[in-house]
Amino acid sequence: MTISIRSEDDVHYARHEGIEYANSIGMETLDSTKVSIIISELAHNIIKYAKKGFIRFSKVTNEINTGILIEAIDNGPAIHDIEKALKDNYSTGGSLGLGLPGIKRISDDLIIHSSKEKGTHIKVTYWKK
Ligand SMILES: Nc1ncnc2c1ncn2[C@@H]1O[C@H](COP(=O)(O)OP(=O)(O)OP(=O)(O)O)[C@@H](O)[C@H]1O
Ligand SMILES: [Mg+2]
Repeated sequence: MTISIRSEDDVHYARHEGIEYANSIGMETLDSTKVSIIISELAHNIIKYAKKGFIRFSKVTNEINTGILIEAIDNGPAIHDIEKALKDNYSTGGSLGLGLPGIKRISDDLIIHSSKEKGTHIKVTYWKK
């Protein structure tokens, strides 16, 4: 599922759909709440830094578990320094700078590709607990 992100309403919609999707693959409230926090942080960054982009969800499985892959995609100005962006309190937007480090803490895997040419593509995997 892919959701276009341009406004705060879109962020709410993406959170809602993310919770439904997490529930549909058998996640309980604590898991789906974390999924919704991840979506909220990624989607707010899209609006704040790139103005528009997409949030996408898909199911991931391995031999023993099921999870959700949440992707955030935009063609904005890119993240200048990915290492710094993952540190607490680093923000180029005069904000708290806790979004990406928070996602890193609560998710199982976080991969960031970001360049001026291709924009930003963030992949977060969260496995059912
Ligand atoms: N989609 C994006 N495009 C460009 N830069 C981004 C994007 N997402 C994050 N960044 C950069 O990474 C930094 C860290 O992001 P993070 O979400 O951790 O903090 P923040 O958005 O500045 O503050 P907070 O999320 O706590 O309100 C941002 O300040 C910005 O420089
Ligand atoms: Mg943020």
